[in-house]
Amino acid sequence: MTTNDNATVQLDERTGAWNVFGHPEALAALNDPATFSSDVSRLITGDRPGSEMVNDGNLVQMDPPNHRKLRTLVSHAFTPKVVAGLEPRIAALTTELLDDVDGDLELVSQLAHPLPVIVIAELLGVPASDRDLFRQWAEVLTADDIGFTAKDENGDQARRFEKLARDVQPMVDYLNQHANERRARPRQDLLTELVQAEVDGERLTDGQVVNFATLLLLAGHITTTMLLGNTVLCLDEHPEQAARIRADRSLLPGAIGESLRLRPPFTLLARVTKAEVELGGQVIPAGQMVLLWPRAANRDPRVFARPDEFDPTRDSDPHLSFGRGVHFCLGAPLARLEGRIALNLLLDRFPVLRTDPADPPTPLPSPTMTGVSRLPLRTAY
Ligand code: HEM
Repeated sequence: MTTNDNATVQLDERTGAWNVFGHPEALAALNDPATFSSDVSRLITGDRPGSEMVNDGNLVQMDPPNHRKLRTLVSHAFTPKVVAGLEPRIAALTTELLDDVDGDLELVSQLAHPLPVIVIAELLGVPASDRDLFRQWAEVLTADDIGFTAKDENGDQARRFEKLARDVQPMVDYLNQHANERRARPRQDLLTELVQAEVDGERLTDGQVVNFATLLLLAGHITTTMLLGNTVLCLDEHPEQAARIRADRSLLPGAIGESLRLRPPFTLLARVTKAEVELGGQVIPAGQMVLLWPRAANRDPRVFARPDEFDPTRDSDPHLSFGRGVHFCLGAPLARLEGRIALNLLLDRFPVLRTDPADPPTPLPSPTMTGVSRLPLRTAY
């Protein structure tokens, strides 16, 4: 680290990346895509074989103006108004999943994973019954923190990247097959929209369709799975607040906001500088990896009073867990809706929801994610 360990922006000399911990500094970077590019793929994958397969059409790594063109293709499907229309389906699915619970509950496998995965699979138009496959692929893609170091002196990162490209091939084949079926027989789903869409008069390539679909499929569920588990953990840690929320459900959106603030599913957002820039009193040269840490920014006392306190009545909206600026999470209204419906029905169904010290939750292995892969809950005293 640099000499000043309290700095809001610090160079990690071991990895060569700049860490941004302060809220105003992270916000400034997110709001300046011309300087802080999202196209970190070159730093991570360079021109290695297979890099296009993983990067081309990956909205989250594109910069304006191409980013806007691609985002516009699907943004209409995720507006708060359109998403509100999904409420009855989300409630019916939650009820069905909870009806299958007999006795104690393992939240992740019985609700937090299947609910968002079924919702996004139905929107995209791939069979929700293949959800065990989606889970395997999500695990492959999230098991490693590949790419978050700017130095690769012994080629280790290159080898990990090549392995990743091989491991995701079955998913690429699967999505290509479904995309081809939509080309032959269009339906009312997002995959059909992607294969029919034109940007500047040209259809998306097969690789772009697959990468966009991958992003929607994976971003559309892994994070919401984490959100549901994390919120239940927040309630478990704060029984007095949990009792208040049970009694007054208007506090639930605030509780979800606090869960997002204190336990951001994505713990870091990566950018690369396109020009020399000053941030938080540091001068960052061009071509540097910059890592923004929502987990730290969301507890910045300059923005949040009593930052470590879980307070469902506060305005947690300035949190950066959905990002900010042009890449602000497309699925935020859907994630919030799924969270509200699922947690409301969960609280209705189970008067007790407590972790079991004899069978504790299993945290996700990746340091870039905050969440659990298993969350056993006692439903009786
Ligand atoms: C709690 C749940 C979620 C969290 C915490 C979350 C977080 C994020 C974050 C931090 C970004 C910005 C990344 C960056 O700036 O580099 C993002 C972008 C994105 N999210 Fe989410 N997300 C969630 C749920 C969803 C859902 C349900 C969808 C459904 C489709 C979704 C789709 C996307 C897409 C497509 C982008 C890329 C937007 C762009 O680059 O313009 N997310 N998300």
